[in-house]
Amino acid sequence: MEISAPQFVTDWKTGVVTGTEVQGVERRVSDLGGVFADEGAFSQLRPDRLVYRTACVFPVPEGTEGGVFWGTTFIEPGTVGAEYFMTKGHFHAKADRMEAYFTFGGTGLLVLMDTARNCWAEEMTPGSTHLIPPYTAHRTVNTGDDVFSFGACWPSDAGHDYDSIAESGFSARALRVDGIPRLVPA
Ligand code: F6R
Ligand code: ZN
Repeated sequence: MEISAPQFVTDWKTGVVTGTEVQGVERRVSDLGGVFADEGAFSQLRPDRLVYRTACVFPVPEGTEGGVFWGTTFIEPGTVGAEYFMTKGHFHAKADRMEAYFTFGGTGLLVLMDTARNCWAEEMTPGSTHLIPPYTAHRTVNTGDDVFSFGACWPSDAGHDYDSIAESGFSARALRVDGIPRLVPA
């Protein structure tokens, strides 16, 4: 019986995925209008400055029931005023779909919000593992001085609902207050 090489490799220190086709998105300042609270500070940033990017493996078509997707997100260090660089955040389009996050490098926060707009956050440090509940919006925040990288594994039929967050935001924001990350009502 044949023993094959692994399908692909994830570097557990950096989150870099090699050995297979990787697809991702880049989110630059110009893609993130309306995401950060301090519009004055936001307008001072170079529009092409990278805020975060993803490197994902999609083994089945989007929408396939029963499959999974795998990917790393890399968030650059930085702030917009007092607010740390972060992802847009989303509910899943099939809102009952869960997701696993696990930290490779750097430090951050996983900000979560339920459908009643209750918000809370979990610290993310190398090895930390997070199971995002159903019906829960999720956003990640780089609270450190280095690139923050974490892995995600989620159902291939989950989809993404960015519109709800674009319309109403999260009810709390992660800000640097006296040098320390705090979750502050929006
Ligand atoms: C997938 C997932 C992550 C995010 C990524 C970027 O369901 O939660 O892979 O897609 O961290 O964040 P968003 O999608 O909010 O821009
Ligand atoms: Zn998700």
